[in-house]
Amino acid sequence: MKNGTLRLLLLFVLTLVSLGHAHYSLGKEKVTHLHFFYQENLISNHPSAVLAAKPKDTTVNASNLAPFGAVYVLDTPLTEGQDPNSKVVGKLQGLSVSAGEDKAMVVFIVDFGFTSGEFNGSSISALSRNPILETDRELAIVGGRGKFRMARGFANLHTNYINATSGVVIVEYNVTVFHYE
Ligand SMILES: *[C@@H]1O[C@H](CO)[C@@H](O)[C@H](O)[C@H]1NC(C)=O
Ligand SMILES: *[C@@H]1O[C@H](CO)[C@@H](O)[C@H](O)[C@H]1NC(C)=O
Ligand SMILES: *[C@@H]1O[C@H](CO)[C@@H](O)[C@H](O)[C@H]1NC(C)=O
Ligand SMILES: *[C@@H]1O[C@H](CO)[C@@H](O)[C@H](O)[C@H]1NC(C)=O
Repeated sequence: MKNGTLRLLLLFVLTLVSLGHAHYSLGKEKVTHLHFFYQENLISNHPSAVLAAKPKDTTVNASNLAPFGAVYVLDTPLTEGQDPNSKVVGKLQGLSVSAGEDKAMVVFIVDFGFTSGEFNGSSISALSRNPILETDRELAIVGGRGKFRMARGFANLHTNYINATSGVVIVEYNVTVFHYE
């Protein structure tokens, strides 16, 4: 290709790129804090998590719920209070992948969809390690939809209640999200 043609092509691409930017402007950045409780129920007749895959020759049972290689699909209610019967404000949907070879550690690939209040219809996404054996832990928030478009932030988690026999786990979430108005 001649130098002149190359320069023209470059100019064309640059024009396209800058036109693309000119058509979209974000509002003012703001910070939102969210507080809710994750109500996991593994064993009831209406579980919020189902085992979708596991390695051949690996046993999954009450004393070994998340062995390396297990994949759960989650559809878990998020409530306003710690009481499982308190108001549902959204649901978490996605995957929990057991990715710890020598200790229980999962990677969460999940969407938190809100169904009430100011953020009804909007959601945030996490793609993060979730070291479930640690009572306090942090997830990375990597994006969002609706009012949370272009979101990023972090979630502080605290396991409030865990009962391996009944398969009930309640986790408190405080989420800090940076997004645009
Ligand atoms: C659960 O699975 C583990 C690992 O295979 C096994 O050692 C244990 O005996 C099982 N426990 C029950 C209650 O079945
Ligand atoms: C949330 O939004 C949906 C869809 O727009 C609507 O049907 C529902 O009534 C809303 N819920 C609340 C609690 O505002
Ligand atoms: C969430 O924030 C509240 C209020 O500041 C605090 O009492 C609670 O301990 C926090 N929990 C987590 C998991 O960060
Ligand atoms: C755990 O769940 C079992 C079965 O539902 C129940 O019998 C037991 O009391 C629970 N333990 C605690 C500490 O809540």
